[in-house]
Amino acid sequence: MKVTKTTKSKLNKIDFSNLPFGTVFSDHMLICNYKDGHWGAAEILPYGPIPMAPGSQVLHYGQSVFEGMKAFKNDLNELLLFRKDENFKRLNQSAVRLSIPLIDESVFMNGLDSLLKIDSEWCKADQGYSLYIRPFIFASSECVKASASEEYTFIIITSPTINYYAGEMNVVIEEHYTRAPQGGVGYAKAAGNYAASFYPTKQANAKGFQQLIWTDAKEHKYIEESGTMNIWFRIGDVLVTPALSDSILGGITRNSIITLAKDNGIKVEERRILITEVIEAFNSGILNEVFGTGTAVAVNPINSITFRDDRMVIKEKADSFALKLKQQLQAIQKGSIVDTYNWTSKVTY
Ligand code: COI
Repeated sequence: MKVTKTTKSKLNKIDFSNLPFGTVFSDHMLICNYKDGHWGAAEILPYGPIPMAPGSQVLHYGQSVFEGMKAFKNDLNELLLFRKDENFKRLNQSAVRLSIPLIDESVFMNGLDSLLKIDSEWCKADQGYSLYIRPFIFASSECVKASASEEYTFIIITSPTINYYAGEMNVVIEEHYTRAPQGGVGYAKAAGNYAASFYPTKQANAKGFQQLIWTDAKEHKYIEESGTMNIWFRIGDVLVTPALSDSILGGITRNSIITLAKDNGIKVEERRILITEVIEAFNSGILNEVFGTGTAVAVNPINSITFRDDRMVIKEKADSFALKLKQQLQAIQKGSIVDTYNWTSKVTY
């Protein structure tokens, strides 16, 4: 693979104690172009602006998908990637839905490996740090015809990170706007899903909520996700999360938490959840915890849910499932306990 190293590393200029999520990027990026029906050779370049024509299809029709994944440093200063196979699979599932050509496994895996080796210093070994990895593909043909592009660009960039959200998470149930309709692209990590969420989210922010809870597009009766997270309810001592459908993103953290919870003897139900069920559980005192999961946040408690004019405040539990599962997940990710699931893989450099 062709590698052009930067002559001006930014590493020593970064304040690692202050890393607002997704704002600092490591020194290098991987780039690979698709043309004439096949992916070309991947290349590593210094992170920086890319040439882009104003007629590039992605700018007009949003034909683009992305992934979010993380690497962690263990105490031996080795870099561990978490469930990279799952991210690769999901990237291609998203690509199929957006009519984007599949990425070859070797391009993805070798690219990731080479890039992480070069920028391994960007991941700190201290507790709480990780390297957020953002692979993405976009339509790069210079053409404004409303049809699938002939050319694509695949890029991987990485960003050192600490927390995604800080502080309280108060959410409101959204009954008008929809994240994803049935038959749409909700199960894919399509860039446009996120773009469409910003306006309703801003409205919720203006009312003092950090995020909203998305409900089904048809009746707005069933819970789907919260913000960019999969959502979980501890009702009594059962963990309930919406069953996957074509309007819900199959989170890799969601999947990991299901496995960990079951192995902790916690009953997990993946099924439809009515808003009314959540309210009834709260009113009868059995809504013990609510939390979200996602790559960026890991596991994030939800402090209150507002439905119309009523606010349900969820008190912190002494024996929090969210906390226990988060600690286990992060210990596996960081290599501080044995990974019996084979979820982590070492990047050798
Ligand atoms: C994730 O947590 O998996 C995400 O993709 C979050 C991202 C939109 C910042």
